[in-house]
Amino acid sequence: MASTLTPILSRDWDAERSWTLATYRDGGGYRALDKALAMEPGEVLEAVKESSLRGRGGAGFPTGLKWSFMAPPDGGPRYLVVNADESEPGTCKDREIMRHDPHLFIEGCLIASYAMKANVCYIYLRGEYVDERNNLQAAVDEAYAAGLLGKNAAGSGWDFDLYLHHGAGAYICGEETALLESLEGKKGQPRLKPPFPAGAGLYGCPTTVNNVESIAVAPTILRRGAGWFRKFGRENNHGTKIFSISGHVNRPCNVEEAMSIPLKQLIDVHCGGVKGGWDNLKAIIPGGSSVPCLPKNICDDVLMDFDALRDHRSGLGTAAVIVMDKSTDMVRAIARLAYFYKHESCGQCTPCREGTGWMWRVLERMVVGDSTTEEIDKLLEVSTQIEGHTICALGDAAAWPVQGLIRHFRHEIEERINTYRNDRPHVAVVAAE
Ligand SMILES: Cc1cc2nc3c(=O)[nH]c(=O)nc-3n(C[C@H](O)[C@H](O)[C@H](O)COP(=O)(O)O)c2cc1C
Repeated sequence: MASTLTPILSRDWDAERSWTLATYRDGGGYRALDKALAMEPGEVLEAVKESSLRGRGGAGFPTGLKWSFMAPPDGGPRYLVVNADESEPGTCKDREIMRHDPHLFIEGCLIASYAMKANVCYIYLRGEYVDERNNLQAAVDEAYAAGLLGKNAAGSGWDFDLYLHHGAGAYICGEETALLESLEGKKGQPRLKPPFPAGAGLYGCPTTVNNVESIAVAPTILRRGAGWFRKFGRENNHGTKIFSISGHVNRPCNVEEAMSIPLKQLIDVHCGGVKGGWDNLKAIIPGGSSVPCLPKNICDDVLMDFDALRDHRSGLGTAAVIVMDKSTDMVRAIARLAYFYKHESCGQCTPCREGTGWMWRVLERMVVGDSTTEEIDKLLEVSTQIEGHTICALGDAAAWPVQGLIRHFRHEIEERINTYRNDRPHVAVVAAE
């Protein structure tokens, strides 16, 4: 089954010196900006709304709607902040955009900011992304030199500045309000909401935070039209999407595909299949480490979009598909993720600060079977006490993988407990007590 998609976001990744302004312009770059600047800002916003683009940073919130939440201009500063922190395990799509096609991204920043009447954009870039930072900064410098950025940007009479800010390697700084705190030079801890950033964001001013991919797709939506974008995928799940596929596949890759593509087709066409064949598949994590895993029987015919994966009690998240074959120790895999969340919890909310460490310690014992079946229920209960009880969604992100494990692979934990008990009957009695 071949893919019929003509890439949009990844079209020029292989072009020679793809990151330069000359190459970008040769391929029609910055024409969408010209089109946007000839329209009213509100018309640009409407076009993005009509495309029904949903945010590519994880939550899938409608992008045009989010832009429309910006408080009306009052003469003060207004900001677009682009979230390029990309720290969700398994996710490595934004880096490709920034490394290979930074001008597409900059054009997206210009268009989005124009639509929201913002005059400044900050890009918060993951600290470890050094090549990406260099290419992006070089592209920003080129864009300034060409008059696309700065005073009278692109000859429009509109002043627009764009700055890169380097993070320092904290997962929590990808959460949009922790990111704003960090950008302001403070400790990266999420803010209580409301107020939401659209009303009071960066330095207390109206701010929209968007993911790199959400912004980078804007020029193509403008150029080709909302109707064209809506041709891809199912109702409410439109457009193309970059999937980062890793793990037990023959060729791990980042690939752009139509939303709602069947998982099996995605893996077979672009990754040369699961190692050892489809029947050797055990489970996937479909959307970056935060979403619950899905066992093979669901994978057989699941579609890769927001709604289909939600219906299976998982999520599209960042569309980072982690593939695990039958050799995978699911308990160990999820215990390792639990360690990540424990390590990255900012410690502000008690359920997350205490709960992530507690879940990790219990899971570490469960890896060897040193536990009880009652403790599985306790683990599930604690995970639900963390979920939804914290300021930001890191608590949910820590709870969901654990819930997925228990929902689909409880038998593996139980088998291990039984084996452990049979090997050490005296220890098992103590544990049961
Ligand atoms: C702990 C945590 C980490 C996050 N990390 C990222 C990230 O690295 N990149 C990103 O775009 N969104 C991340 N998000 C989601 C952002 O808070 C925000 O929803 C997103 O940037 C909005 O962009 P979008 O509307 O374009 O999807 C994270 C959320 C949480 C709770």
